[in-house]
Amino acid sequence: MSLKDSLTFKGTIATQLLRDQHILTVELSEGFLNNSIDAKKFLEHVDYSIYVHFPLEDNYLMPIFRPFLRKYLEFEEPIRVISGEHATIKRERQLIYRPNITESDEEVEISPDELFGKVGVIAKTLLQHVYKEENGLFELVDSYLPENEKKELSIKLEENMPILEKNFRK
Ligand SMILES: [Fe+2]
Ligand SMILES: [Fe+2]
Repeated sequence: MSLKDSLTFKGTIATQLLRDQHILTVELSEGFLNNSIDAKKFLEHVDYSIYVHFPLEDNYLMPIFRPFLRKYLEFEEPIRVISGEHATIKRERQLIYRPNITESDEEVEISPDELFGKVGVIAKTLLQHVYKEENGLFELVDSYLPENEKKELSIKLEENMPILEKNFRK
């Protein structure tokens, strides 16, 4: 069974926009790992995640949720783990230098095998990351964040997604 079928991607207004983006992340990661999509297409989505999805989590979800996590659970571990993984995925992405990879491109310095290996590491890291958010951090947000803050967060996400997307496409 694929991860896609084992998750519901359903939450409250606080997390739904991010969960909707996870569906494509899981689809493309699994697609890359089973050879149905190529590295270039998958890496485009990785870059979208790095420049749009992660900042929505790092800059809005985490700061809004942090005080409530501390208040109710008195530990910050779930947030620390997730933001640490964002840093890991960015590092893994930087290991693949060229943004546009085509097989005919003579300037490509890494071999196809090496590329497949490195991109595969990113796909696997992303899959377990999404799993951890869907069943861990986001469940905590949906359970512990008060209604007003849920609304505040959903407005911030809606407002900032198009701004981040615009900057990403520049
Ligand atoms: Fe994340
Ligand atoms: Fe996420």
